[in-house]
Amino acid sequence: MTTLKFRNNDEMPILGLGTFRSEPNEVYNAVLSAIKMGYKHIDCAAAYGNEKEVGNAIAEAIHQGLVTRNDLWVTSKLWNASHGAENVIPALHQTLEDLQLDYLDLYLIHWPVVLKKGTEMPEKASDFITLSEVPLTSTWKGMEAALEQGLAKHIGVSNFNENHLKAIMATAVHQPEMNQVEMHPFLQQEELKSFCLQNDILLTAYAPLGSLVDENTKLRLLENDTIKNIANSRNMSPAQVALSYTIQRGVAVIPKSTNESRLLQNLETLNHTLTKEDMALLKDLDKGHRFIDGKFWEVENGPYTADNIWNA
Ligand SMILES: NC(=O)c1ccc[n+]([C@@H]2O[C@H](COP(=O)([O-])OP(=O)(O)OC[C@H]3O[C@@H](n4cnc5c(N)ncnc54)[C@H](OP(=O)(O)O)[C@@H]3O)[C@@H](O)[C@H]2O)c1
Repeated sequence: MTTLKFRNNDEMPILGLGTFRSEPNEVYNAVLSAIKMGYKHIDCAAAYGNEKEVGNAIAEAIHQGLVTRNDLWVTSKLWNASHGAENVIPALHQTLEDLQLDYLDLYLIHWPVVLKKGTEMPEKASDFITLSEVPLTSTWKGMEAALEQGLAKHIGVSNFNENHLKAIMATAVHQPEMNQVEMHPFLQQEELKSFCLQNDILLTAYAPLGSLVDENTKLRLLENDTIKNIANSRNMSPAQVALSYTIQRGVAVIPKSTNESRLLQNLETLNHTLTKEDMALLKDLDKGHRFIDGKFWEVENGPYTADNIWNA
């Protein structure tokens, strides 16, 4: 499988399985089936509330001899209520216990947003802590400790803009190696991508199929005419076109599915290549549209707005 290479030459499979909104009763089968099909990269997070089931599936796959731990790339993320240097390792221990693993391949700060301990999703301003009270540099120190203790082989961030990255890079002993952000043909993030490239930071695209949940706009990535026409002419599905486009831009993709045929279809993207002409047509689809718009961090008199998360 095509990979992205880290600074020490470790390689992450460029296509992985997403597990957000995979219900606890379906994620076990999804992960086990995916590994049977040949997926080697699983994207998890404490916040998805299903790491125990994911862990059971990984353990079963190893038990059945389908893969060894070494063959797999497992990513997880530090939830917002565990920011701050001293909170990272305890949160990571919980994730490792849930996933039944001794180490993660990659651990990410999920959001540049801090919540009070124990908060799952915020409802009021007092559920938040500002970045002046708990700076990202403090949380990054905890991430570095995780790396130094061998609990995570690589560390990085998610949903960070250029300024968030610069803030931690200025004092980091170990530089961030990954930024996981929303990316697909409607949100190509060219500037952030160039900044990351210049600073040796790899990118992973979340919601690479457009997440299929934008109730506000009813915009559907996979129903776009350009994507559908290219799919028809190349004997691909619209999902494969969307995934190929991002992969061919050198960015990892982590499509979520709990459906066997779509899991296989997504993996088989790797058997296809888009032409230069296809790539040029898809480049024109960029409209800066976020399906995961970050507005859920906005509460009355709260310290975070979607605009300051993406742009400040
Ligand atoms: N870092 C972050 O803040 C963050 C945020 C969001 C997501 N993520 C990660 O990124 C992963 C992917 O993002 P996402 O789950 O939001 O969205 P996505 O992967 O873009 O889309 C998932 C949706 O597409 C459907 N689907 C999957 N394969 C398909 C295909 N071949 N054709 C048509 N529909 C298909 C899925 O339904 P079925 O299951 O029924 O197939 C599901 O409804 C997440 O699972 C998570 O691991 C990270």
